[in-house]
Amino acid sequence: MIRQAIIPLAGLGTRLLPLTSVFAKELLPMNGKPNIEYILDECIDAGIKEIIFIISNKKKMIKRYFYSDNFYKNIISKKKDKRIKHIYKKILKYKKMIKFVYQNKPLGTGDAVLKTKKYIKDKYFLMLLPDDLIIKKNCSKAMIKVHNTYNSSVMASMNVKKNTVSRWGIYKFGKKINTNNRIISDVLEKPSKKKAPSNSAVIGRYILPKKIFSIISKTKPGVGGEIHITDAIRQLIYRNEKFIAHKFLGKYLDCGSMDGYINSSKEISKL
Ligand code: G1P
Repeated sequence: MIRQAIIPLAGLGTRLLPLTSVFAKELLPMNGKPNIEYILDECIDAGIKEIIFIISNKKKMIKRYFYSDNFYKNIISKKKDKRIKHIYKKILKYKKMIKFVYQNKPLGTGDAVLKTKKYIKDKYFLMLLPDDLIIKKNCSKAMIKVHNTYNSSVMASMNVKKNTVSRWGIYKFGKKINTNNRIISDVLEKPSKKKAPSNSAVIGRYILPKKIFSIISKTKPGVGGEIHITDAIRQLIYRNEKFIAHKFLGKYLDCGSMDGYINSSKEISKL
């Protein structure tokens, strides 16, 4: 059973400047609701019971968003506004599920994952990257189903244009299990077009084994000088850990860049 999820939120969000000079990108509204709430709702609907946020001192605003009890209590006692009451209830529900850990130096996704080590209880956990929204079909839920069937690690995959491979983690595939699931035989972080083994990209949903922590602590910085989770996953694959790429059925929305954010807001408002 997958009960815990982790969400790296310490990223600076430079691709969304100037908004991110004063604001956490994960709180930017999409059709009136912060981006992060779509991710939380995906987790809750997939049966996740506890979520660990990896934030930084610069991103404390995210914690404040979920911890404004006195503010809400004050408003609600003065104003009988049904909408605010409803929102506060929802925020309280989220707050009860969330734990915070800190990553104050931007050393990469692998390093962010490592910060959650002492909180992970089960053999496997889910990780979601908040820049990647997947709408219309719950990707985490589908991946948990694959995990339960094959008792393996699972990662989301999507075909991308050949000339964009250097922006993503790229899969090399082994055996095909069925239409939407394949064994991963290797994965490369942001390869050149020449070195890319396919045009199938890693999208930010991962079911990872707890044993990845010991691998990350030995993983050296890779592309861009960061410690990548992709590089630790690679090491696990080489040690015969079973990883399945799940080609998800939902619609992918990129929320990490300005063009992507504008487009995602439009798409979400159509739902
Ligand atoms: C991260 C991962 C990359 C993956 C991407 C999906 O990259 O390192 O493997 O393809 O997310 O969005 P980032 O977006 O942090 O550069």
